[in-house]
Amino acid sequence: MNDVRWESGKWFSRYFSFQFFSFSVFVPTVIGNLLDAAVAKRAGMLDGGTNAVRLVDGAGDGVPGFALEEYAGRWMAMTPGGEIKREVKDWLKASGRSVYWKRLDQHQKESPMHLYGEAMEGAFAIRENGLGFEVSFQSGYSQGIFLDQRKNRAEVMRRMAGGGKLLNLFSYTGGFSVAGAMCGGETTTLDLSAPYLEWAKRNFQMNGLDVEGQHFCKGDAFHWLKRFAKQGRVFDGIVIDPPTFSRDEKGKVFRVEKDFGELSMLAGKVLAKGGWMLCCTNFRGISESDFMKMIARPEMEGVVMPEDFPEEAYLKSVWCE
Ligand SMILES: C[S@@+](CC[C@H](N)C(=O)[O-])C[C@H]1O[C@@H](n2cnc3c(N)ncnc32)[C@H](O)[C@@H]1O
Repeated sequence: MNDVRWESGKWFSRYFSFQFFSFSVFVPTVIGNLLDAAVAKRAGMLDGGTNAVRLVDGAGDGVPGFALEEYAGRWMAMTPGGEIKREVKDWLKASGRSVYWKRLDQHQKESPMHLYGEAMEGAFAIRENGLGFEVSFQSGYSQGIFLDQRKNRAEVMRRMAGGGKLLNLFSYTGGFSVAGAMCGGETTTLDLSAPYLEWAKRNFQMNGLDVEGQHFCKGDAFHWLKRFAKQGRVFDGIVIDPPTFSRDEKGKVFRVEKDFGELSMLAGKVLAKGGWMLCCTNFRGISESDFMKMIARPEMEGVVMPEDFPEEAYLKSVWCE
């Protein structure tokens, strides 16, 4: 196996060489070339405003079973199984990046493992659409931001320009809330998890936003929606992006395919006249049209995923009036 380098010494490509009688036959490593091409295709997406994207998206980039994301120069490799192909490992190592690896397994949910380059000491900042977010490769299965929601966070910024009240249900680290608050919105960030709400507050602060003027609610989304309705509180925009399955503190189970209809109905009761709702699910077992039937709002428009996710349109995002 041979490495090809630029004059500067920077690694370019790799090939195998077989001695065949008196001449050599060169076979370029196809995977390395596909990975290079996938990264090159996203180069224009990385700029001063955004430095976190999906660099390789499985079969969408000709590399089934392998995904790679960049977070402010650091790389997170992801595979559904317990192995990374030798050629892929060589390519990752040759990048000189800090590389971590996560096994995609919703049942085990292990933290990523350090593979190559610099090991991360703690959380660090990334940028998306001009906003800052805290990311961590050591905080468990998820890193603090889901990159497949980048376009939807940008659309929330557009819709919240000029202010208004935003309710972000299942907020996780508050990405949608920060997007809304940066445009002058009054936000309500709601999640079952106190540590994630604290993380959301740090994301507000990272963007120079005063958390005192914003609202944070810990608890079950269904419970809070009923409470808001009783209090007569209404919101101009509501984001509903729940997990496929969850269990609240009292053991109550939530399943998208069974419960999203009730969730959107309850949210509809606290939506201001002329307001909008964003309904999302990454549950692969439901089609966009069946998801829309559950949401059942008068006006609904499904949107496509960001261009760095070409493999499969697993994320259904429906904007409703
Ligand atoms: C897939 S993440 C949501 C991603 C998030 N919407 C975003 O934009 O990044 C799921 C979140 O839902 C929260 N959660 C799960 N069940 C909940 C419930 N019944 N009520 C409120 N939050 C819940 C979890 O704590 C977790 O933070």
